[in-house]
Amino acid sequence: MHSEAVCPKCGGTGFTIVEQAHVSSAAPCDCRFEGIASRRQEEAQIPPLYRNASFESFSAAHEGNPLASRDLRNTLLAVKRFADEFPSETRPGLLLIGDPGTGKTHLAIAALRRILDKGFDCVFCDYQNLLDRIRAGYDASSNSADREAYRVALDADVLLLDDLGAHRGTEWVEDTVTSIITYRCNHRKPLIATTNLPDLDAGSVAYEKTPVGTQYRTTLADRIGARARSRLFEMCTVVRMPLVEDYRVRKQRIY
Ligand SMILES: Nc1ncnc2c1ncn2[C@@H]1O[C@H](COP(=O)(O)OP(=O)(O)OP(=O)(O)O)[C@@H](O)[C@H]1O
Ligand SMILES: [Mg+2]
Ligand SMILES: [Zn+2]
Repeated sequence: MHSEAVCPKCGGTGFTIVEQAHVSSAAPCDCRFEGIASRRQEEAQIPPLYRNASFESFSAAHEGNPLASRDLRNTLLAVKRFADEFPSETRPGLLLIGDPGTGKTHLAIAALRRILDKGFDCVFCDYQNLLDRIRAGYDASSNSADREAYRVALDADVLLLDDLGAHRGTEWVEDTVTSIITYRCNHRKPLIATTNLPDLDAGSVAYEKTPVGTQYRTTLADRIGARARSRLFEMCTVVRMPLVEDYRVRKQRIY
């Protein structure tokens, strides 16, 4: 294990001595604020897979498809604007809707990082994992982290709920999601969410052609309930990801 290097400015005391008009006084050292910033980063629980996800590492170039490139660039700009203008009075949240691999989680985390830098306490939650932990929290033998999961989801300054609706919608799930979203909405607490479920009002198509004919796709409202969905739209800037090919597949081909 490597040990923390001692701050050269204050020798680890957290204070520096400032001389002003022949009077010495103690002032908090810069390293304290760096400490707070890195603790805030850790507490955000951004998954290691997205360690490098930022606006800078998001590529808007799509080989041989200028229309897709334009759409990706506009999407990037919209999410950037949300993060730069955060917190917005009217729409404190962000909802990213789109197909798998189009960069929703990447952009949501890029926005979260920028908001972290502004000094807000942020927390990343995988939707399925959060529900599992909340459920486990009801168990008497559960650990305290699981018991706290629900409170954290309610109380964090900013919550990133990743892959919203990626779960079979039991009544319990619907109630839990509604209560988190309603609470955050009523308290004007920002929420950033991503989902690959279609929503008609976000311009998605709810029908898809398959070899066996046209099929109805489960929508966001089907999964999380009409009430949670309605509040989400009320509090969020909604950004639909362009119809681009799955980046995970595209990358395989490029390299
Ligand atoms: N335009 C892009 N530029 C750079 N990296 C990208 C881009 N789009 C996606 N990626 C990368 O591809 C991977 C998949 O993207 P991401 O996880 O954001 O997709 P998603 O839309 O959240 O998919 P899912 O619906 O499956 O959760 C990630 O590693 C992400 O960093
Ligand atoms: Mg994702
Ligand atoms: Zn110091």
